[in-house]
Amino acid sequence: MAIQKIKENIYSVGVIDWDRRLFDQLIPLPHGTSYNSYVVIGSEKTVLIDGVYFKKEDEFVSNLKTLGLEKIDYIVSNHSEPDHSGTIPTALEMYPEAVVLANAKCKELLIKHLPIDESKIREVDASTIISLGDKTLTFMMAPWVHWPDTMFTYVPEEKIIFTTDFMGSHLATSDLFVTGEGMVYEAAKRYYAEIMMPFRTHVQKYTKQIQNMDIEFIAASHGPVYNKPEFIIEAYKDWSSDEIKGEVIIPYVSMYESTAKMVTYLADKLIERGVKVTLFNLPETDLGELAIHLVNATTIVFGASIVLAAPHPAAVYAASIINALRPKAKFYSTVGSFGWADKLGEKMHDQFKELMPSVKTEDLAPVITKGSPTEETFRKLDGLAEQICLKHKEAIQKQFCVN
Ligand code: FEO
Repeated sequence: MAIQKIKENIYSVGVIDWDRRLFDQLIPLPHGTSYNSYVVIGSEKTVLIDGVYFKKEDEFVSNLKTLGLEKIDYIVSNHSEPDHSGTIPTALEMYPEAVVLANAKCKELLIKHLPIDESKIREVDASTIISLGDKTLTFMMAPWVHWPDTMFTYVPEEKIIFTTDFMGSHLATSDLFVTGEGMVYEAAKRYYAEIMMPFRTHVQKYTKQIQNMDIEFIAASHGPVYNKPEFIIEAYKDWSSDEIKGEVIIPYVSMYESTAKMVTYLADKLIERGVKVTLFNLPETDLGELAIHLVNATTIVFGASIVLAAPHPAAVYAASIINALRPKAKFYSTVGSFGWADKLGEKMHDQFKELMPSVKTEDLAPVITKGSPTEETFRKLDGLAEQICLKHKEAIQKQFCVN
């Protein structure tokens, strides 16, 4: 990515990763990503905010050379994960006089992950103010969105805050600022679901703090810069809120169509009752899409079958992902079919529950059948649909009364 000017003396010098399709060897990246790095030039001092993924070192070095800085005085490390810190050693080689600014936790992790001499790092905290001459750097400690070391860097004179992963989006685009709000909204929601949702209470807290600051630009470390901060602030408030949205998601896997018939029937009955419902055929689904729908899910219904004397591995894998993402779902049930393993079939509901200890849900009676679904099975599914609607209605009313 070529360098781009955010405003006078503030530049984006990061790189776009058009081709990357998987993050952490786990998270699908349908639209690639970017590793954003920024330069703020003061009247006396210059600062580099974060580096980029080490695999993109050549482009990063080229950008810094193109900018043609005589010196960099400080390198802020807002977060030590290697996609942002990986080229800090390179930047230190280019600008040996630079001092790395990091909080205590970040310093500890930088030294563990990278060849950086401890003496090159100066610890900062929420009380630290660094003067660049006509501008200042202040620091907001923001642990657990999503590592314990996270912090944000704020330049009050320019009304810009650098938030590392927080409010970011995995989106490869040449647009410096948000131009297509719909596309960025989806990419940022996917990012929130996959990275931030497990830390929802922290997200609520930091979003509120940012909303109360005097800010014109939010510059995260992935995706375009927000030059209308309210766009992402309102989205984060909505996604992280405690509000019960009443949506149902049904991740399922079906070997001989019996479970598929059951989940389709259940979905139809819910739709007839006006419930928003989304099905995910797990062997073919993008788990990122499942994650996005977990943001508003009130009920999770697993659809699964037994294979080789255990619940289907595709459903087990999805359950472990759901557990890691800690959605705010309130209710849980299971529907499914098995061929011959009566005892295992009966246990399926509890096994999925045990795979999701961090998802605090109330159990709704499962509907599990041997072989093809019968009329009796469908009547039980009618009952489950009714039960889900009733529980949603009660939960939404309760929320309304509390508020
Ligand atoms: Fe984009 Fe937590 O690194």
